Amino acid sequence: MAVIQSNTAVIPGIYKMCVDFSGEVKPGQFFMLRAWDKDPLLSRPISVHDYQSGQLTFLYQVVGKGTEILATLLPGNEVTIQGPYGNGFPQVNTDLCVVGGGIGTAPLYYLIRKFKAENPNKKCRIYLGFRDYPYGVDEFAAVADEVILDVGGIITDKLSVLPEETVITCGPEIMMTAVAKVVPPENTVYVSLEAHMACGIGACLGCTCETKAGNKKVCKDGPVFERGVVFNV
Ligand SMILES: Cc1cc2nc3c(=O)[nH]c(=O)nc-3n(C[C@H](O)[C@H](O)[C@H](O)COP(=O)(O)OP(=O)(O)OC[C@H]3O[C@@H](n4cnc5c(N)ncnc54)[C@H](O)[C@@H]3O)c2cc1C
Ligand code: FES
Repeated sequence: MAVIQSNTAVIPGIYKMCVDFSGEVKPGQFFMLRAWDKDPLLSRPISVHDYQSGQLTFLYQVVGKGTEILATLLPGNEVTIQGPYGNGFPQVNTDLCVVGGGIGTAPLYYLIRKFKAENPNKKCRIYLGFRDYPYGVDEFAAVADEVILDVGGIITDKLSVLPEETVITCGPEIMMTAVAKVVPPENTVYVSLEAHMACGIGACLGCTCETKAGNKKVCKDGPVFERGVVFNV
């Protein structure tokens, strides 16, 4: 159980929740959240948006019953959080180019903030694509070296990757597929996959996906994979 410090709308339908937590948390990892008894049956996976000073932050979009319940929670209420789960993003020793789409931008903030804190001399650029209302842009501008924003268009049309950059992307599968295709083969590309999850720890096989390296569990083997493993590029 974690005590909620705050839970507020960033824009209509997108919420930021801060809870008490202490322990080691890596960018790209996720927690299974639950604030209900039997209905819905399963806990819901939500990525780590930020983590510092005993405070864990989630950024989530209200899409169905589980996230609707999460959005009603108030400061002082408790939420069950199991995790952190998943391998998270790999350690990057080059400059970074990050591509986020919609709520897929959620796990990218902690990634960039930590990367810049640990590698102040390395560059980090982020492409942010939103269908209608952008959010979090000022926060990204405060930690990244450059933010390239697109609203209503196709973010990969603007994408131009430099030879020395490692690329990390999270967002709709169609966007990540496009990123995996347009980035030159010389650049390493990591994608963060989504899947319906039940256990989050590799026990139920519910999140199994076919890859070139055989069947993989998104929760335990991922959610981050190298592009060549999951996409035909
Ligand atoms: C590793 C991981 C990290 C995630 N991180 C975040 C995050 O940081 N912020 C965030 O807002 N969301 C995140 N998600 C997605 C989030 O888990 C789902 O939106 C949530 O479970 C929906 O629950 P619900 O009860 O509100 O909606 P439901 O009633 O369960 O579903 C509503 C609709 O969304 C679809 N849906 C639900 N879950 C998924 C999924 N995993 N993939 C594709 N479609 C789905 C359903 O098919 C349905 O159409 C993450 C998912 C994974 C697997
Ligand atoms: S969610 Fe159960 S194996 Fe991945």
